[in-house]
Amino acid sequence: MTTKVAVVVGSLRKGSVNRIFAQALAKVARPKLDLQIVEIGELPLYDQDLEGELPAPVIRFKQQIESADAVLFVTPEFNRSFSAALKNAIEWGSRPWGKNSWAGKPAAIVGATLGAVGTAAAQSQLRSVVSATGAALTVQPEIYLNYRDGLIVDGEITDESLRGVLVDWSAKFADWIARLRAPALTF
Ligand SMILES: Cc1cc2nc3c(=O)[nH]c(=O)nc-3n(C[C@H](O)[C@H](O)[C@H](O)COP(=O)(O)O)c2cc1C
Repeated sequence: MTTKVAVVVGSLRKGSVNRIFAQALAKVARPKLDLQIVEIGELPLYDQDLEGELPAPVIRFKQQIESADAVLFVTPEFNRSFSAALKNAIEWGSRPWGKNSWAGKPAAIVGATLGAVGTAAAQSQLRSVVSATGAALTVQPEIYLNYRDGLIVDGEITDESLRGVLVDWSAKFADWIARLRAPALTF
């Protein structure tokens, strides 16, 4: 059975390397994992005053997260952190009180930059924030992608060693999700 993964890409721009990476990873992960990007660009800035009557994009976003078996965050690095757009989406997912869409969701973090740092700083900070939402984050394997032109062409990974890393990552994330979703043993 295919496992549905909601993918939250932290960059809003059309040509985002993180979006390109997410799409290529989706191809590699099939058929075990069905990675679908959930759009966050229409979410209003989080404002607790809007919680009384949730805006339509927020309702849609929370439903997409809740109906998925797991969540994957694909983060850029902006000023040694993750993006404001991603933090905003996390806020909405966690609210209103008692309606936390992230709670208990198996989750993972990957990311791509054009620089050698490969989102290490962004992922470290994102990990701490996502942990606070109650999502069940994987620890290993980690992926810090140093993106360059030609690495992904027409949605296909051109570097065989990177492809191998992504195949391994997909199998391990699928295993993590399956373990968390397995019915608890009773004695
Ligand atoms: C506001 C801003 C801040 C950035 N800060 C960093 C940074 O701290 N570290 C880094 O490696 N790259 C940084 N970059 C470069 C990004 O890695 C690069 O723009 C990348 O393409 C962003 O991801 P995206 O293509 O998915 O939007 C920054 C880019 C922007 C626009």
